[in-house]
This record gives sequence, C-alpha cells and structure tokens, in this order.
Amino acid sequence: MIVLGIETSCDETGVALYDTARGLLAHAIHSQVAMHEEYGGVVPELASRDHIKRLAPLLGHVLAEAGVAKEAIGAVAYTAGPGLAGALLTGASFAEGLALSLGVPALPVHHLEGHLLSPLLADDPAQFPFIALLVSGGHTQIMCVTQVGAYELMGESLDDAAGEAFDKSAQLLGLGYPGGPALAKLAEAGVAGRFKLPRPMLASGDFNFSFSGLKTAVLTAARDRPLEDLDRADLAAEFQEAATEVLATKALAACRQRRLSTLVVAGGVGANRRLRQRLDEAGKRQGVRVCYPETALCTDNGAMIAFAAALRLLAGGYDVAREQQRAGGFAVRPRWPLQEI
Ligand code: KG4
Ligand code: ZN
Repeated sequence: MIVLGIETSCDETGVALYDTARGLLAHAIHSQVAMHEEYGGVVPELASRDHIKRLAPLLGHVLAEAGVAKEAIGAVAYTAGPGLAGALLTGASFAEGLALSLGVPALPVHHLEGHLLSPLLADDPAQFPFIALLVSGGHTQIMCVTQVGAYELMGESLDDAAGEAFDKSAQLLGLGYPGGPALAKLAEAGVAGRFKLPRPMLASGDFNFSFSGLKTAVLTAARDRPLEDLDRADLAAEFQEAATEVLATKALAACRQRRLSTLVVAGGVGANRRLRQRLDEAGKRQGVRVCYPETALCTDNGAMIAFAAALRLLAGGYDVAREQQRAGGFAVRPRWPLQEI
C-alpha cells in the first residue's frame, strides 16, 4: 500500500510517499526558515499560511517524482500533534480532505513517533527492542522501545529541550535563527575548555535533563566581556561539548540499565556531528550499535510520518474502518504526550 505522509507541525512542510512493499518512493520538504528569520523565531500565523500554499505543489512534486497517480494512494497520514495548533490544522485539513475525496483512510500520527521510528527507514535498520534518544527543538527524551507503539519514557528534560538550548545559545552568540546548525558550525572553529560551562544533571543518577542553566551560563559568559570572534567560537565549542556530553552519557547509561545493545537517535539535534561522534565512540566501547536517520530525515519531514503510519498499519495499530467512517470529524493535539497514543 502507498501511504502519503504530511508534516506541518512547525516550520517545515513535508510531503512523502512510502510504499509498504517498495519503501520510500519520494519525499519533499519546504523549509520556512528564510521567512521566519527576520523575526528571530517561528511566527505561528505565518507558518500556517505558508503551509497552506505549499501542500498542493509539494504533493504534485512527490507524485511526479514517484511516477504514481494520486488514485494509487491507499492512506493519507498526517501529523496530528504535538506542534503549533494552526500549523497542525492546515496539514490535518488537507490530509482529511484529500483522504475523503480519494475514499481512503486518513491516519493521524504523533510527531514524536515519526521521529522515533525514522532511523528504521535506513537500509540496515535497528531491531526492537532499543533505547531511543529523541532530541528535537521541543523535546529531549530517553525512551525504551519494545515494539511499534510501546514507548516507555525513562527520562526527559525538566525545562528547555536540547534543540531549544542550542537555538537560544546561538541567539546569545548572535547567530540568528534557527541557531543549532550555525552553532555547531561555529564550534568547529573553536576550542572547548577555555570557557567552563556546567554539565547539568550529569551525575543525577536518573535519565532526566536540564538545559536552561546551561543556556544561562552562556549568557553570563557572553556578558562578562565583549566577545571577539574567536571567543564566540570557543564558547560555542564548550556549549556543544557540555550538551553532547550529557546527552551521550545518559543515553548510553540507559542502554546499560536495560541491557540493550541498540541505541536509536532521532530529532533535529541528532544531526549534530559532535553528538554522533561521542555516541559512536562510547557505543563502540560499550558494544552498543548506534543508529541514526539519514541526515535529511533528522529534522521534520513527511517521510517519517508516512513511515510511522505504515508501521502502525502493519502492526494493526489503526482501526482502519473507524478511521474511514469518521470522515470529516478530526482534531489536532498541540500538546500530546507520546505515552497517550
Ligand atoms: O526535529 P526538529 O526538526 O524539529 C522539532 O520537532 O523540534 O528539530 C529542530 C531542532 C532545532 O532546535 C535545531 O536547531 C536543531 O534541531 N538542530 C541542531 C542541528 N541541526 C538541527 N542542533 C545542533 N546541531 C545540529 N547540527
Ligand atoms: Zn520534529
């Protein structure tokens, strides 16, 4: 069956076609970064309006790339939450309307489940059970995953998400929005250790995180004296060391505690090269295989939504007849704990 995936939870419009027999057929993303840049962050109303404009052209694009007619679509999956309410509603309305017109089920998907399962799209995918480190702009969680739909939360951030800390620290360093990738790039030119930043909750003995103090420490260091370019690079490097050390240490500790030898990393911060390097090195020492999504699928995309829906369908996680009957009635959940799916 061909599943169309639609992602509009924040500032990326993602559309993809996944075939349960042949794999990913096509995917396309439109990023709104340039549009939000001048405001220093995502403007929800602008995000919603832009999603509406992009969805139909992106759908046309992936259908053409995959060489299939829209009548070949067997189900339409869409992100139903968590995310920005208006942005979610654009994708949900588009997906539900399209599904109705095609006479196929519309399948709501939890955004984090999409991220979480996206590394399984790889050629040599991870096998259940595994520990998942989910590090995005809105979430930082360690989960124990035994099968599709069984996600035990072991720990999470008590305040800022890892990506949020990257973004806010980048802003303090004058790097604009979204700061994560820019900070990572600047860090490559810097030397960690000259500035001393804390490793919050590294020794807390649990799997929770706290990143807001780290961001404040960057603020304090940046305020102490006027920063030259090299200082900014060194501060970026130290921030990246601090954040990735805590993330990698706790993720691997979770593997040890559950005696699991597979770690799956998902979410935008999973694209961070230093984080990957740390996880690979420590994972090797500990006999843990670390699996990542393809870099292009680390940040928000439609492929992970189509894929998560396909896996759920195959696992019997949807009441397809009911999904098809409820035509027209749907809701999005801007706040939606993954454990409530
Ligand atoms: O998963 P994602 O695309 O969106 C959410 O669902 O939040 O993650 C976006 C987050 C942003 O905070 C962005 O700055 C961060 O991922 N990010 C990175 C890198 N690439 C993206 N953070 C650090 N290093 C990167 N290379
Ligand atoms: Zn995301």
